[in-house]
Amino acid sequence: MAYGEAPGLDEVTARETAHLWPRLKDHVTPLEWSLQAPLIAEINRLKRERDAVILAHNYMTPEIFHGVGDYVGDSLGLAREAARSPARVIVQAGVHFMAETSKILSPDKTVLIPDLRAGCSLAASITGADVRLIKARYPGLPVVTYVNTTADVKAETDICCTSANAVQVVEWAAREWGVDRVILIPDEFLARNVAAQTPVGIIAWKGRCEVHERFTAADIAEMREAYPGAEILAHPECPEEVLAAADFAGSTAAMNDYVVQRRPREVVLITECSMAANVAADAPDTRFIGPCNLCPHMKRITLENIRDCLLEMKHEVTVPEEIAARGRLAVQRMIDLPPPAVPARYDMIRARHHVAVELI
Ligand code: 13P
Ligand code: SF4
Repeated sequence: MAYGEAPGLDEVTARETAHLWPRLKDHVTPLEWSLQAPLIAEINRLKRERDAVILAHNYMTPEIFHGVGDYVGDSLGLAREAARSPARVIVQAGVHFMAETSKILSPDKTVLIPDLRAGCSLAASITGADVRLIKARYPGLPVVTYVNTTADVKAETDICCTSANAVQVVEWAAREWGVDRVILIPDEFLARNVAAQTPVGIIAWKGRCEVHERFTAADIAEMREAYPGAEILAHPECPEEVLAAADFAGSTAAMNDYVVQRRPREVVLITECSMAANVAADAPDTRFIGPCNLCPHMKRITLENIRDCLLEMKHEVTVPEEIAARGRLAVQRMIDLPPPAVPARYDMIRARHHVAVELI
C-alpha cells in the first residue's frame, strides 16, 4: 500500500503520521492503520498539551513502540530516562513495576499507567515481608533485587539491578560489603545465569518469568536443525539450558544492539513476541524467525488505553514516600554505576565459573 491509501484517513492525520509508515508497514494492514493512525495522531497531540512523555518498553506492540514512544528501551534505559526527563507527566507503556520505578525516581511527576492490571509474574513472586525473612536468615549479606519487583520489595533492597547490569551489580555489592556471596532475588533463572559469569556465590529465590520459563533446550535444538545459519539470542530470564544452547544472552536492549550492529542474515530472538517486529525496522536485511511467546501483562497496553489515560489523566501510580525514599536509594545506586559493558557472546563466557547458587 502506498502511504495515504489506508481507507478513511483524513488529510491532517495522513500528514501527521506519514513519517511512521516506513517503520510500520510490514506489521500493520491498511485496515488496521486506518484505525491506528488517528489514535497515534491524537496521542501525540495530547502529549504536547499535557507536557507528557511516553516511556515504552521493547515489548510494546510496533504501533505503540514506533508510533507514540518518546523513549524506547529496556528496563534500565527506561529507569534512567524517568530520572532525567523534564516532562511533567510520564506515561509508562510497560508494566506496573516500571511505573512504580518511575514514580520512585520522579516523586514530583505524575506517573500514569494505561492499565493497572499490567503486572509481572516475577514482581508477584515475592513481598517485602519475604525479603525481611531472607535478611534475617542471611545477616550481613547485601540484597540485590531485580527491578521486576514491587516498591515494597525495593524498599528492603540494598541495590537494584536489571538483566543488563546484573553481573556488574552483584560484583559491586560483593566488593562494597566485603563478602563472597550476595542475595539476588527474585528471578531464579537470572540468578543462575549471573552465577555462571561470576565467582561471587548467589543466594536465589524461586521466582520465574512466565514468558521466558517456557522456552526449552529442545526449542533451541529444533531451531538449529531447521535454520542452521541462524544466530540464536536469548533473554537471561530463560532457563540455564536455553542460554547454554544460545549464541548470545542479553537484556532486550543488548539483543537489539546485537542485531542492529552485527546484522545477522537470520536471527531467532528467544523472548517476547513484539521484540522482533520492533528491531526489524532497524535491521531490514535480517530475517527474524520464531518462536516467541506473548507477555499477557505487556499486551494489556494498547493505543486506545494510552489515549484514554492521557485524556482522563488516569491511572495514576503512587508510592508512599517512606517506601519510595528507601527504594530510591536502591534504584539510584544502580543508576549511578557506569553503563554496563557490552556483553560478550554467551558461548564464550559460559562455564567459566563453578556455578554456586543456593535456592531459598
Ligand atoms: P529488560 O530489562 O531486558 O528489558 O527485561 C524486562 C522484562 O520484563 C523482561 O521480561
Ligand atoms: Fe514480567 Fe516476564 Fe512479562 Fe517481563 S515478560 S513483564 S518478566 S512476566
